[in-house]
Amino acid sequence: MFVGHVGVLVALCRLAQGLPSPRWEVPPDPHVAKIFASPQAIANCPGYAASNVVTTDNSITADLTLAGTACNAYSDDIHDLKLLVEYQTDDRLHVHVYDAGLNVFQVQEEILPRPKNEGAKSSSAQLEFDFVEKPFSFSVKRKENGEVLFDTTGTQIVFETQYVRLRTKLPLDPNVYGLGEHSDPFRLPTFNYTRTMWNSESPFIPTNDNLYGSHPVYFEHRGDKGTHGVFLLSSSGMQININRSDTDGQWLEYNTIGGTLDLYFLAGKKAADVSRQYADVVGYSPMYPYWAFGFQQCKYGYWDVNMVAEVVANYSTADIPLEVMWTDIDHMNLRQDFTLDPERFPLAKMRELVTTLHQRDQRYVLILDPGIHRVGNYSTYVRGHEKEVFLKNEDGSDSWAVQWAGIVSWPDWFAPNTQSWWTDEFNRFFNADTGVDIDGVWVDMNEASNFCHTPKCDENELEGNPPPPTNSPRPNTGRPIPGFPGDFQPTPSSRNSIKARNSKPLSSRQFANGTKKGLQNRDWFNPKYNINNHRGNLSDFTIYTNYTNYDGTRQYDTHNFYGHMMAHTTHSSMLSRRPTKRPLVVTRSTFAGTGRKVTHWFGDNASIWDHYRASIRQMLSFVSMHQMPLVGSDVCGFNQDTDEYLCARWAMLGAFQPFYRNHAEISAIFQEFYRWDLTAAAARKAIAARYQLMDYAYTALYRQTTTGAPMINPLFFLYPGDPATFAIQHQWFYGDALLVSPVTTDYSDTVTFYLPDATFYDFWTHARIEGQAQNVTRTNVSYTDIPLHIRGGAILPMRVESANTTTALRKKDFSILVAPGRDGMAQGSLYLDDGESIEQGGVSDVQFSFDGTKFEAKGEFGYEGKNGESVTVSEIVFLGLKSGSYNGTAGQVVKKGAWKLTGGFTVEV
Ligand code: GLC
Repeated sequence: MFVGHVGVLVALCRLAQGLPSPRWEVPPDPHVAKIFASPQAIANCPGYAASNVVTTDNSITADLTLAGTACNAYSDDIHDLKLLVEYQTDDRLHVHVYDAGLNVFQVQEEILPRPKNEGAKSSSAQLEFDFVEKPFSFSVKRKENGEVLFDTTGTQIVFETQYVRLRTKLPLDPNVYGLGEHSDPFRLPTFNYTRTMWNSESPFIPTNDNLYGSHPVYFEHRGDKGTHGVFLLSSSGMQININRSDTDGQWLEYNTIGGTLDLYFLAGKKAADVSRQYADVVGYSPMYPYWAFGFQQCKYGYWDVNMVAEVVANYSTADIPLEVMWTDIDHMNLRQDFTLDPERFPLAKMRELVTTLHQRDQRYVLILDPGIHRVGNYSTYVRGHEKEVFLKNEDGSDSWAVQWAGIVSWPDWFAPNTQSWWTDEFNRFFNADTGVDIDGVWVDMNEASNFCHTPKCDENELEGNPPPPTNSPRPNTGRPIPGFPGDFQPTPSSRNSIKARNSKPLSSRQFANGTKKGLQNRDWFNPKYNINNHRGNLSDFTIYTNYTNYDGTRQYDTHNFYGHMMAHTTHSSMLSRRPTKRPLVVTRSTFAGTGRKVTHWFGDNASIWDHYRASIRQMLSFVSMHQMPLVGSDVCGFNQDTDEYLCARWAMLGAFQPFYRNHAEISAIFQEFYRWDLTAAAARKAIAARYQLMDYAYTALYRQTTTGAPMINPLFFLYPGDPATFAIQHQWFYGDALLVSPVTTDYSDTVTFYLPDATFYDFWTHARIEGQAQNVTRTNVSYTDIPLHIRGGAILPMRVESANTTTALRKKDFSILVAPGRDGMAQGSLYLDDGESIEQGGVSDVQFSFDGTKFEAKGEFGYEGKNGESVTVSEIVFLGLKSGSYNGTAGQVVKKGAWKLTGGFTVEV
């Protein structure tokens, strides 16, 4: 967005002042010193004393009372707290420290339904909770081996109206991961490191800063001693500090500006167990449509429907499979949601476009922004206003801010009519018979991003701002588009300028005590503890934090899940259009639990090698630790111009990440894969492999939705006892069997990657290679190559060949690739369903095994294929056998046949 939002405003202002106008501006070096909680301010905080302790088989409760004179370090100390400890399951311990009056904000159940307390017995639980009464501190231990996982002794809990502090000791230089969203190292730094959680528009995804989402969960890995997780269920703005000093040792410290200390300890002990236990708390991902694994193309700046159609046609001419076409805000009239620019994107042509795409088994996705243009002649706004769906100013008028359309009002997702209003807008605009029949939807700018800098943004401040950006005019060539009906003709149009209309004071509402809706009378804009939001103060460039939601809570407390609510509301609206189909909703802003309905892309990166690499780290965290499997970055980079080499490498990298979409900013050059021969060749090869492996990936997604085991595995998940894997962040397992080791150095053809101590097979040549727990250097890796290795011991279900669309792909037979491990054995599985229905008829869940001589398929065989889909295995390829050779590869044996996956079968080698 950088050019689009701030950049254009800045550029135009500079122009007006006679200054040269940079096309974009690189943000300042993000590595600025962070402010840690001032030790002086909290040094004298008295902590709390426990009393009235009641211990049962599965719980502990106590009163916690301020143990001395209030320190009021950053706000007012809360005198009376409660402690609740629940052994919820054998592997999940819940520890909650909250205010006795139940006034401090707690995340609403509808946002994050709490997991059921199964009432496990403390005696059988894997974790042990111990505490000291005065000053109150606690520790959590893994019983099996005595490892102390969390220990707050030595620092007092501080629990104030606008500041809460909890610190735990950690082993020196621990292996800590998670705490998204960030673009930092996958294994987090452990010295002088801060993580801020405050959802923000984050152009260029700066490191060491808060980004678009908040996921306050970390995984800590202790090698053979196990992996555990700690989740702080809080939407408060916060800063988490990880540091060490000679006096205090190593520690991790939560510093929040509100909320309670609502902690879930997840015992593990394998890393994938922690993933599952976290899913038990925040929810499991849904299944996505099969086609969502297809390749997708977008660009901000396709200036008319003609051009969109042209891009689709060009992909087809270039013989690069394109599954999903996207359109950014370009299609809108005056940048208003649910509208079409009548000249550039007229409805009749849009309908032709979508019909043509659907006839070719391709799909279409459009964008929505939360800011609703606050003008009287815009019917979406008028209907919303009548239904009272907007956040309100003090005087009851609709809230206001600035987004793409100009002055906008913010939907209040808590208001009783908001869902029905939003769904109604969907059903009008995205109507299959009369509107734009989209297949998926993209919700953007929902942190929420406000182009207005401060809450003082009034008419005067807006006066100097230019109107929203217009599309650049395009030459009117009227050239025919191969394969498309109609005459997609562009007509440039001009835009009206938008002016501020409202500068009303902001609101406050009252509510009853004891309802966990948040304390009154706080400083909504500048709490004394500074969480180091990279956009400035809390309300800068976002929804003003003093706004009251319909249920009486404040944006101060709920800010971090505004985007989550928009995305989940959108999910319901999509469902109402196509009640039997799995929706695809892709959101920019996320919170813990967002993944149980929708998915995410990593926002506005840049076309730089650093961000090509960052996409791997971000994927590892989101998939394996935040339970958001279908994620990916803007392939080839969003801001700035890419080039054919970076784009070729990224085309290959993205093919082995779950969500695969090429997208660029309006002022960046066009970067569709077919723009360069080299990039096109890389894309063709990578997409073919991705498509052949699509059922393997789809099966891995299915596993994640049912068991929580991630569909992307960091190396330490599979090799937990090998310390060399703990910090690996540029290699990953796609599924649990395909090791991806891309070239990661800028413009290089050399890559050094790690091969654990196991057998591997080169995916492309099938050559066997023994991993020796050592780095391997590969030179001459061309731009159309990416090192891929199959883990010995795995069986991969593949299609015999790729296809142009996923619909065509599903008609191809299966080829099963058997890659025995050192013991000569292998296992794998294949999940099959119709790829799109929420309620499935019959599904298949086939388990494959190979014992060295006999291959066996058994399990559930309920899916018989529809519309000509194949459920036939026509070949089984065995690698690594003692004898045999096929296509010049020693040890390779290929059995041809026709085995229907409607029942079990065995094959002898
Ligand atoms: C935001 C999105 C970006 C989009 C742009 C215009 O910056 O993150 O993907 O292209 O807005 O809608």
